[in-house]
Amino acid sequence: MIAIYPGSFDPITLGHLDIIERGGKLFEHIIVAVLCNPNKHPLFSTEKRVEQIRECTQHLTNVRVDSFTGLTVDYARLHSAGVLLRGLRVLSDFEKELQMAHTNKTLSEEIETVFLATTTEYSFLSSSTVKEIAQFGGPISHLVPGNVARDIYWYYRESQS
Ligand code: PNS
Repeated sequence: MIAIYPGSFDPITLGHLDIIERGGKLFEHIIVAVLCNPNKHPLFSTEKRVEQIRECTQHLTNVRVDSFTGLTVDYARLHSAGVLLRGLRVLSDFEKELQMAHTNKTLSEEIETVFLATTTEYSFLSSSTVKEIAQFGGPISHLVPGNVARDIYWYYRESQS
């Protein structure tokens, strides 16, 4: 069974990585799919986010990283994936995630959404929090993979110089 783990990943956090690692034990293959959304203005380009995720998941042999545009279910069908994997951190995630799962079900009856509860230590963590901390010079190396922390520090140093 192939599972798609879709998201913005701007940037990937240790919480995302935890879901990928644990999902990789449940499914035969995981495709981490970075949404390329022309309406958003991400910190990192789609290509850079794919590169960052590839680097920090290279130890996982059944994980592939890709990008996509359009509907997640169309991308899942294209890759014969039967599952959309999503992490749940706190109760407030649930409303949005449930709505998304129901919407996707109306778009594709055969694709199931599977939720994994985020490990407690990452339940407060989000990409936006990481960016806010980094922007004001705070520590983020306990929140994101090492390669990503390096890229973020570089970005803010360059943009402030
Ligand atoms: O990391 P995010 O931003 O919470 O991920 C959201 C994502 C990319 C999974 C969601 O926005 C998505 O699936 N977008 C693609 C468009 C789509 O399929 N929309 C219908 C389902 S709401």
